[in-house]
Amino acid sequence: MSDRDNSTSVLFASSEVAPWSKTGGLADVCSALPKALDKQGLNVSIVTPYYRCVRQWFLDHEGKEPSPIFGLTLHAPIAHERRVAGVRRTTIPGTNVVAYFIEHNVYYDRDGIYNNQGVDYQDNCDRYAFFCRCVLELIKNYRDFNGRPVLDVDVIHVNDWQTALIPVYLDAIYRSSSKLGGDSVFATARPRLTSPESQGSDDVFAKTKTVLTIHNLRHQGRFFRGAMDRVGLDWSLFTFDKMEFYGQLNLLKSGVVFSDLITTVSPRYAEEIRTEEFGEKLQGVIAGRADDLYGVLNGVDREEWDPRTDRFLPQTYDENTFQEGKRVCKAALQQECGLPQNPDVPLFGVVSRLDAQKGLDFIADNVPYLVERYNAQLVLLGSGDQALAERFQQLAGNYHWNVAVCNTFSVDLSHRIEAGSDVFLMPSRYEPCGLNQMYSLIYGTPPLVHDVGGLHDTVVNASDENIANGTANGFVFYWPNADDMRKALDWAINCFYNRKDDWNKIIRNAMHCDHSWDASAREYAALYRKLTKRNQ
Ligand code: ADP
Ligand code: GLC
Repeated sequence: MSDRDNSTSVLFASSEVAPWSKTGGLADVCSALPKALDKQGLNVSIVTPYYRCVRQWFLDHEGKEPSPIFGLTLHAPIAHERRVAGVRRTTIPGTNVVAYFIEHNVYYDRDGIYNNQGVDYQDNCDRYAFFCRCVLELIKNYRDFNGRPVLDVDVIHVNDWQTALIPVYLDAIYRSSSKLGGDSVFATARPRLTSPESQGSDDVFAKTKTVLTIHNLRHQGRFFRGAMDRVGLDWSLFTFDKMEFYGQLNLLKSGVVFSDLITTVSPRYAEEIRTEEFGEKLQGVIAGRADDLYGVLNGVDREEWDPRTDRFLPQTYDENTFQEGKRVCKAALQQECGLPQNPDVPLFGVVSRLDAQKGLDFIADNVPYLVERYNAQLVLLGSGDQALAERFQQLAGNYHWNVAVCNTFSVDLSHRIEAGSDVFLMPSRYEPCGLNQMYSLIYGTPPLVHDVGGLHDTVVNASDENIANGTANGFVFYWPNADDMRKALDWAINCFYNRKDDWNKIIRNAMHCDHSWDASAREYAALYRKLTKRNQ
């Protein structure tokens, strides 16, 4: 039986798509998952803002910008103004996935994606509300010569708060069979700010369903209540069971309420976000949608992350050659980072956004111990929070023979750290999925993690029992504090020095983990089918 499913057409909307724009795992997922779905035969396209970094990427890599779609301009009223956007189009090389870029230079032609040197743009609500409107205007207005919609979309798959207004606009403005009861949302005395020509039902959207994926519940897109006027939705939606949240406008919450189906990026996180501990005050709203909530584990894009073919490594390797391959990669990494080229000391690697989420302070607390007791080495690549960056810089200054810190964003170096380290550290306080621990597994670098979210779903602790039954692939600690982490570090170092056979077994188990996107893409495809069947 063929796995191809040409019947379902999905449009991904995301504020980041690798390799064009990226601050974290969202970008990886929004490029890899569409590719995997395309391989399974779904009709997939993606839409994302045309940021300055996107333009630069095309100029650097292709010598020209993607072509604009001739004659197509999108109009959307945001922040009391009618704004106009152009659309550019390309395909992800080697796939049928079409990428659309929404071009509006006032909003997107800026140095950073969300902020400038750590300070969020004041108009982020306007920027992403506008993007959401443009996505729907694109579906509606992009027609072929016969007037038929080019993007005949069954499912709009939105991601995180930046695109979470799409289901709301769809229901409140664009769709005829609105959950809200058609025009009732506008039945107040307040003026509508939406343009008359784009209001009301439209057949293009008659069957369109929405999926919202929550990549990180902490970031909700919360704005001053007055932003309701700027996004152009009626104030009757500003209630505790829809868009209001403790007096503020909450875009992610709005998406949770209005989407047809909600997913998050690991089964464990799907459980956790219903609890007070991880629910970020949205646990009630999420529990209310429990029947429509699914946890689907992210995967790894093996075209980008594979030690057998990785173009960034000084030597590639596989399960049979990892000892030699990792030896070469470790020596090269030590040299690149200015550390002594000693094969015998354990080298810990970190690639991370510098953010409280990631538990990097547990690592910092343990650095003096690791260095003084074991002469261990640490290589950290990360950018973000300034205080954390300074703390690690200081450690690098104090222990310059053992600690190397690189506060930039470097894809090349991130690959070399995954391959050249002995252990990859990811002590996150919470982690919706986490991609780096999956990369490190595949690269034969056992991850050492806190037992939470997607880390729980992917890393099996090297207990004696799990080593014996062949499942151990990393090291796990169970309470988010530096002391508990230290015990796991001791155990990992003990295995590294004294249990070489077990150590190599753990590496082999790790490299065996199949975290390719195939299985997860199949789960998404099944969810889309389930949704579109509801249409029939
Ligand atoms: P999150 O999305 O929460 O940051 P993930 O583990 O899901 O965490 O994904 C992080 C992604 O960002 C990975 O692809 C990782 O390699 C990349 N990354 C994070 N920081 C850096 C950095 N400083 N340089 C290069 N890549 C980075
Ligand atoms: C978020 C999460 C991370 C997840 C990524 C991609 O940034 O913090 O755990 O892997 O999104 O889904």
